[in-house]
Amino acid sequence: MTDPISPPPHGLARNAANYGDKEFALYLRRSFAKSMGYSQAMLERPVVGIADTGSDLNNCHRSVPELVEAAKRGALAAGALPLAFPTVSLCEPSLFPCSMHYRNLMALDTEAMVTAQPIDAVLLIGGCDKTVPAQLMAAVSADVPAVMLVTGPMLAQRFEGERLAACTDCRRWWARYRAGDVTEAQIARVEGKLATTSGTCGVMGTASTMACLAAVLGFMPLLDASIPAVHSDRLRAAEEAGALAASKPRRPSEVVTEQSVENTLRTLLALGGSTNALIHLAAIAGRAGIKVDLHKLNALSDTTPVLVDLKPTGEGYMEDFHAAGGLPAMLWEMRDLLHLDAVDVAGRTLGEKIGESPWVDRTYIRARETPVSPVGGIVTLFGSLAPDGAILKRSAATPALFETEARAIVFDGVEDLAARIDSPDLDVTAEDILILKNTGPLTPAGMPEAGYLPIPRKLARTGVKDMVRMSDCRMSGTAFGTVVLHISPEAAAGGPLALVETGDRIRLSVKNRSLDLLVEAAVLAERRAKWIAPPSPGRGWDRLVFDQVTQAPEGVDLRFLQPAPNA
Ligand code: FES
Ligand code: MG
Repeated sequence: MTDPISPPPHGLARNAANYGDKEFALYLRRSFAKSMGYSQAMLERPVVGIADTGSDLNNCHRSVPELVEAAKRGALAAGALPLAFPTVSLCEPSLFPCSMHYRNLMALDTEAMVTAQPIDAVLLIGGCDKTVPAQLMAAVSADVPAVMLVTGPMLAQRFEGERLAACTDCRRWWARYRAGDVTEAQIARVEGKLATTSGTCGVMGTASTMACLAAVLGFMPLLDASIPAVHSDRLRAAEEAGALAASKPRRPSEVVTEQSVENTLRTLLALGGSTNALIHLAAIAGRAGIKVDLHKLNALSDTTPVLVDLKPTGEGYMEDFHAAGGLPAMLWEMRDLLHLDAVDVAGRTLGEKIGESPWVDRTYIRARETPVSPVGGIVTLFGSLAPDGAILKRSAATPALFETEARAIVFDGVEDLAARIDSPDLDVTAEDILILKNTGPLTPAGMPEAGYLPIPRKLARTGVKDMVRMSDCRMSGTAFGTVVLHISPEAAAGGPLALVETGDRIRLSVKNRSLDLLVEAAVLAERRAKWIAPPSPGRGWDRLVFDQVTQAPEGVDLRFLQPAPNA
């Protein structure tokens, strides 16, 4: 228990070991800190820890060194001692089997370091898809005062009369290449133009969505979500973030509440944001003991318009969203749908942060009367194929396919998909439903972004652009198509998806929010009797994930990292 008369120890005195002579531990810690050249006065300041996620394997975090420097400047000027420390850093294209498999490792690492080290507050610097969720999960569990800073989106590059900014464009060009419309030489030129500045993917993919959600949840100023990575305002935002971390920000438990989580869900829907954000938000809220209810999401989706016209659902890039007024302008449009009294880490309410009628460019941020879509971007589906739910990003899908009953063409895992999808012998038509199973969180694939199954080459060559596709894995936030994701329970957990066979009939109804497997119970019982559960990996991180990972509706978190019952 803390002595109620003396204030709790701060700065380097925090969390000192006590093996019977606590003063010795402090003397030792100060003396080693002095070896780094700090004065006594500096060592008496409160400490702002800076989670430095710079990594030569993370291109999206290329700017982190200069952000750390600017943040240190801000923290120093505000009277703190900034001390940066490294953590795990995850970049989407760099990890095998996929970055999702390691999000919880980064969360665990970050939580442990934030908890163990003598810091009074932490500034978390993230950006690429899994990093911001991992850091917020860590912050909520550590419950140390925390501020978030994102690296910011890359700028789009001009190319042959259009603009390119990483994915969405990468997929569009690749689909054209697969269809034979684009030559080898062209696709090689595109490869060199897709990502040309530092920063995260320049569309409303997972990274940009999570940046916006982190701001609405209360971990940073609203406009900071969208400042381009290379803009000097990004460095000023870093300086301000350092200063904010030095000025006793609130604890995550004070800002992550039922109200702020609902604000964040509404924001996700209005942005037409990434489906991955739903998993991440469930994990972050779950760390605070708050459940993201997928049934409630449907109710919110029906009453939240899509207001932002960005790729992959629309036309613009993050730089356009920022220049158009960014989050304050969008949230002003939907302020009647928000809990405006939710407070952020600086103690400001969401209403104060939105301000009074911000300037807005209607090309990218629509008015309520003329939305991109009158209803939200994501819906959840339930039924005999997905008893615990599945999701569909309707804003990125083809409405003509919303009511489909068709034959299933089943691929049993990513290897099977890779081996057969382009086979000229594949028995498939554009009216079929492509099913990919055994790609959920329990599998060695680790719930990859494989849900955007390629259109079989022989159909792509005849001009087929979209088909109904379903899986227990995820899809990149930058992808598009009529793609049902996160089917729960997953096949590897013995969900009904495990029992689907090629030739079965499946019914998707977006209108009824339903997803059903039209196979007789007796047939399914026979198949279930033959089903074999997957083997456990022998050791290491894979083993821990297999033993502990939850399903998509619980955020694909590790059970032992969720709050203890009665905690
Ligand atoms: Fe890092 Fe897209 S790969 S944000
Ligand atoms: Mg992504």
